[in-house]
Amino acid sequence: MPDKSHQKKILVIHGPNLNMLGKREPDIYGHESLAEIDAGLLKRGAELGLEVETFQSNHEGALVDKIQQAAGIVHGVVINPAAYTHTSVAIRDALAMLDIPIVEIHLSNINKREPFRHTSMIADIVAARIAGFGAYGYMLALEGLAKMI
Ligand code: DQA
Repeated sequence: MPDKSHQKKILVIHGPNLNMLGKREPDIYGHESLAEIDAGLLKRGAELGLEVETFQSNHEGALVDKIQQAAGIVHGVVINPAAYTHTSVAIRDALAMLDIPIVEIHLSNINKREPFRHTSMIADIVAARIAGFGAYGYMLALEGLAKMI
């Protein structure tokens, strides 16, 4: 077993309904499942010398708990808060407590869609934002984060 103790850790967080990727509005969100996206991130992370953990929840409080638990443990966060992007002060406040780079990612270009999707509660506290590249955006987020940490 390779020694992973020295590796930097990245936490990838997926918000509500992203567990349905592949089946969910594929014209907007694509055909790749969340399991496929996560597997790709773990593989790319290993190539970059990073330990990648992924987490999905449909529940705001569970997402807040996970972010709180990451403090002092992980070196960077990639997050697609999904619908909570537009509404959640709780997720914003939890992320704001982390003193590490955070990358916000969306599969779709949220600014090209309905006006309620144009607001992001976290846009001004993240290091970088990616939107509109579909699942490939996660890869870009991970690679960008690898350069930052
Ligand atoms: C999303 C965009 C959000 O508006 C939407 O609620 C999602 C997914 C995206 O990845 O494009 O669930 O974050």
